Amino acid sequence: MPLIKLQNISKVYGKNDYKTEALKNISLNIDKGEYLAIMGPSGSGKSTLLNIIGCMDNQTSGKYYLKDNDISLMNNKELSIIRNQSISFIFQHFALMKDYTIYDNVELPLSFRKITKRKKKGLVMNCLKELHIEEQYKKKPNQLSGGQQQRAAIARALCSDAKIILADEPTGALDQKTGKDIMNILTKLNNQGKTIIIITHDPLIASYCKRILTIKDGQIISDIINEHIHQ
Ligand SMILES: Nc1ncnc2c1ncn2[C@@H]1O[C@H](COP(=O)(O)OP(=O)(O)OP(=O)(O)O)[C@@H](O)[C@H]1O
Ligand SMILES: [Mg+2]
Repeated sequence: MPLIKLQNISKVYGKNDYKTEALKNISLNIDKGEYLAIMGPSGSGKSTLLNIIGCMDNQTSGKYYLKDNDISLMNNKELSIIRNQSISFIFQHFALMKDYTIYDNVELPLSFRKITKRKKKGLVMNCLKELHIEEQYKKKPNQLSGGQQQRAAIARALCSDAKIILADEPTGALDQKTGKDIMNILTKLNNQGKTIIIITHDPLIASYCKRILTIKDGQIISDIINEHIHQ
């Protein structure tokens, strides 16, 4: 059984004249440890697909199984546990809490865990060190560069220890060099066993991934193994 299994997933927004079919009958399997890029034009349904995979949104029809569990049968509590423990999101604009320090942002996913403050501190500082931003821990997000903010968002994902990382244009707001740094970090995490799915418009960013899915008008138009992985 694949980690992620989508069967005939459709998503319709709105009603009647305002109806948009964002996803049309998508079937897709993603195994544990995959490194997948999702490409396609603006409005093709990429974010809609990622949000359904991340249990942030429901499909209109079709079935979604995550680790063998039918997501539509889960109650809110079960869903929030999955969102908190299994899946981490990284966004183009980082989505850090602006009034929190970098330390507090990275600690956030640990807030529901029953571990001592001291142990939490050890975990958070390790994640910050891994991303080379430990010296910034007392600062607020707006005191960091874009690349540093994205590294803080990845540190937060790391700290949650989620096995699945979903990234919606994580390098979209960064210059090319910083974008490559971020991809090298994500590649390292994939090598450590994380399942990573990244939406990007940039073929260079997609070239880091092992599999490239292209969607257009809510349908998969190609699904290829990347023979030329960027090293
Ligand atoms: N909340 C919503 N309500 C109504 N329509 C929506 C909503 N979210 C997305 N859509 C529509 O669904 C379609 C797919 O949108 P989606 O955001 O998934 O595209 P995308 O591929 O991520 O585009 P982009 O590259 O611009 O981010 C678009 O036509 C969009 O207008
Ligand atoms: Mg999008």
